Amino acid sequence: MLSSTIELLRTARRSAYAIGAFNIYNLEGVLAVVRAAEETASPAMLQLHPSALRFGGPPLVALCLEAARESTVPIAVHLDHSSSAQDIRYALEVRLPSVMADGSHLPYQQNLEFTRQMTRLAHSFGAAVEAEIGRISGSEDGLSVSELEAKMTDPLQAREFVEATEVDALAVTIGNVHGKYRGEPKLDFDRLARIRELIEIPLVLHGTSGLPAELIGESIRLGVCKFNVNTEVRGAYLRNLKESFTREPAIDLLDLMEGGIAAMQSVVRHMLELFGSVGKA
Ligand code: G3H
Ligand code: 13P
Ligand code: ZN
Ligand code: NA
Repeated sequence: MLSSTIELLRTARRSAYAIGAFNIYNLEGVLAVVRAAEETASPAMLQLHPSALRFGGPPLVALCLEAARESTVPIAVHLDHSSSAQDIRYALEVRLPSVMADGSHLPYQQNLEFTRQMTRLAHSFGAAVEAEIGRISGSEDGLSVSELEAKMTDPLQAREFVEATEVDALAVTIGNVHGKYRGEPKLDFDRLARIRELIEIPLVLHGTSGLPAELIGESIRLGVCKFNVNTEVRGAYLRNLKESFTREPAIDLLDLMEGGIAAMQSVVRHMLELFGSVGKA
């Protein structure tokens, strides 16, 4: 069934587990997430990056929403990382019920203003909003410790930001990184605990690909109830394509697609286990 993001996140937080939000790009991605969620009786989220939304447009949105409605488990559908008011408005108009208004690249006051406006807009459509303060990047190479800390979420600022914007969920930056981690991932759990003390709304962790099970578990104990996953699922699909063609150059298209689904589904299943959402649907 199609569920609201907020409903899923609140329920998860009450019961000390988390929701996996998976970036998908095509039919195979949608089916992989929904099948993994159904086979494990787990809630889950489908999320579209603005580049995927621009590529697939209303048919891709309709596919996500319909797959969620038809599913036997609760599935929410969400727009990921959108830093453009135009993209957010478009997403709301094509009926995405949940969006990320990402002003994290802006100076703090501008981020606050952007997020406040986008939250007002999204709420007028009945949609939920995730925002971010602090700045997650793709690679932290070459930064000193103080530069890294400057990019992390400041707990007091986060509280002020949440109160001023009335956003529904907050993505935190505590050492998490999009894509691959260089070396061993380290998360600032003292910072996360302090943020949790000060903020009531659900917390989100981006950059989950590459995080070991222990860091995921500790993040959940400290209040994270949504994990964003992209690179590992997408990578499984691409690896499967490559291996399939190497093994069988004349492979049937449907077999190729089924292989891609199975490869992504097994990554999603593993993640749902780590998030503790198995059996919670
Ligand atoms: O979350 C950000 C985008 O989906 C990019 O993800 O790190 O897999 O390129 P990526
Ligand atoms: P990863 O690609 O590191 O899993 O991060 C995904 C993400 O944060 C999408 O918003
Ligand atoms: Zn992200
Ligand atoms: Na990552």
